[in-house]
Amino acid sequence: MKERLQNILAKAGVASRRSAGDLISSGRVTVDGVRVSEKGFRLEQEGHSVEVDGKPISANVPKLYFLLNKPKGVITTARDTHDRKTVADLFEKEGARLFTIGRLDKDTTGVLIVTNDGDLAHRLSHPSFEIDKEYEALVEGPIGPREVRRLERGVKLDGKQTSPCLIVRIGERNGAQVFRLRIHEGRKRQVRRMFEKAGGVVTDLKRIRYAGLETGKLKEGEYRKLTDKEIDILKRSDI
Ligand code: URA
Repeated sequence: MKERLQNILAKAGVASRRSAGDLISSGRVTVDGVRVSEKGFRLEQEGHSVEVDGKPISANVPKLYFLLNKPKGVITTARDTHDRKTVADLFEKEGARLFTIGRLDKDTTGVLIVTNDGDLAHRLSHPSFEIDKEYEALVEGPIGPREVRRLERGVKLDGKQTSPCLIVRIGERNGAQVFRLRIHEGRKRQVRRMFEKAGGVVTDLKRIRYAGLETGKLKEGEYRKLTDKEIDILKRSDI
């Protein structure tokens, strides 16, 4: 049976499905020695030699799943054209092509799932999955109960209303307020932009929970393998 080249690359752990599409359109993939740059290209799953940057892909790479406590100053894209430190750099010793499920800003810390399971990364990054995410934000500025209610009901970002969410003020630190937010969307710089809309500035942001997973004892920059049970939960996820 024929399958999309993009999916074959994702299943082989080369990249998430979306990034695999980018690899194809940028001309880095060959099939039986011929460069293919059409994203929708389909081929029989067996009997072809597929290479990325001249290296053959292997259909049976073991799947790896990690939970990273992301440190500040590290970006989540696979490759950086400006030579900045990436999450992939933190996993160099694992010797596998790994990518993140979703993204965190350069200066956001906390829970990030890193894997070579392109199918899972694709499914969980899709907005229809509504994964629960919890953040702790240090916010400067005049954010009172009224602003909090407004943010919980939803504000417009890029012309589209954010979904209802839960926000709890848990205290103060260094003269700023600390809020916990539970959201299930993953729009670009969502938490920072939501508070900006209400007149605040987020000066520190940490993701404290993703699909029920927490950093636990991991220090920033440390990671651990997910347990089989945790992997199962993610795979069954409509959390
Ligand atoms: N919201 C943000 O503003 N940044 C992140 O990294 C994650 C959520």
